[in-house]
Amino acid sequence: MKKALLTGVTGQDGSYLAEILLKKGYEVHGVIRRASTFNTSRIDHIYQDPHVEHKNFILHYGDLSDANTVRKLLYEVAPDEFYNLGAQSHVRVSFDIPEYTAEIVGLGALRILEAIKDYEKETKKKVRFYQASSSEMFGATPPPQSENTPFYPRSPYAAAKVFAYHMTRNYREAYGLFAVNGILFNHESPRRGETFVTRKISRGVARIKAGLEKKLYLGNLEAKRDWGYAPEYCEAMWQMLQQEKPEDYVIGTGESHSVEEFVAEAFKVAGLGDWKKYVEFDPRYLRPTEVDDLIADTKKAKEKLKWEATTKFPELVRIMVEADCKAVGATL
Ligand code: NAP
Ligand code: GDD
Repeated sequence: MKKALLTGVTGQDGSYLAEILLKKGYEVHGVIRRASTFNTSRIDHIYQDPHVEHKNFILHYGDLSDANTVRKLLYEVAPDEFYNLGAQSHVRVSFDIPEYTAEIVGLGALRILEAIKDYEKETKKKVRFYQASSSEMFGATPPPQSENTPFYPRSPYAAAKVFAYHMTRNYREAYGLFAVNGILFNHESPRRGETFVTRKISRGVARIKAGLEKKLYLGNLEAKRDWGYAPEYCEAMWQMLQQEKPEDYVIGTGESHSVEEFVAEAFKVAGLGDWKKYVEFDPRYLRPTEVDDLIADTKKAKEKLKWEATTKFPELVRIMVEADCKAVGATL
């Protein structure tokens, strides 16, 4: 039985990846943060009672700021694959807490790489490492963006991801680690955090439909993103670690749509009519520097991984609006 260790298991992607790996027969170990309230809602459905024998989904307390625990878990679990999905992943928030963001997103990845380097040297065992890199790294560089496009980060989050990206490449080249960067464009789902724009919109639309809210407050409606469906992207993460050689891959749909288009489509799915009646501008959601347009050039993923996004924009919006409407009892 193969073993996988995941940071960020309680997040959107971590929860889908854990499901995927369990279905493939892996023993899955996830790192969770101590919190004063339960923070496992996305993985409650796959949680296994610690008193049950032969568990294949095991949770450990840890934090990417804590190198000792990262190292200890690596030695204890002895995974075949290590997926680093943990992050302070909110771009707008990274302007408010830049140092913390760099600590977790940038140095967190380095802590894992250092631990793997030492572990491989001491134990002679290999660990395949996946780094959750981001299309945010392309920032102001115009689309389409491929594996060869230069980075131009526009936020503390993106700059920290660029650091982690380069450390991953450097440990691959310097120490022969099987370490890959998945450069993933935005991917969404009903499990997306409520303050990312797609989920904020689908949730807002559902609450308006249910009569719980009257307005939806948003920032820049002109920004364009290449939005795909998260479970498909998590399958691509796994595929990257099954390749013969460690390489970096761009993952996306190859299409971009504006925030305004997402809003219009979501209100259409809910049958609420003209979105302009409900949406108000609030400058607090603007960023000091914005990323205007992201479109993935997915040629390499198609050719080498045989991976292609199947859920496209209108279907994604429908999935998210339907799920949020169901959650608040709004009938469509
Ligand atoms: P997410 O839903 O925000 O999940 C982030 C995860 O990281 C959560 O499990 C969170 O724990 C954990 N975390 C936060 N701070 C941590 C710390 N100090 N130590 C350990 N774990 C910590 O993000 P996601 O959308 O699943 O994204 C997964 C990864 O892919 C992230 O690295 C993100 O930056 C990257 N990425 C995402 C996208 C996207 O469109 N979703 C695109 C490209 C790259 P709590 O649950 O306790 O908060
Ligand atoms: N969050 C948010 N809230 N964004 C808004 C709002 C709002 O009220 N109004 C407009 N936007 C715009 C933002 O300015 C941005 O241009 C766009 O919507 C998308 O914002 P987010 O959904 O917060 O995502 P992101 O693109 O900044 O970052 C996400 O994708 C990256 C991959 O490109 C995150 O998941 C990152 O962790 C990930 O790396």
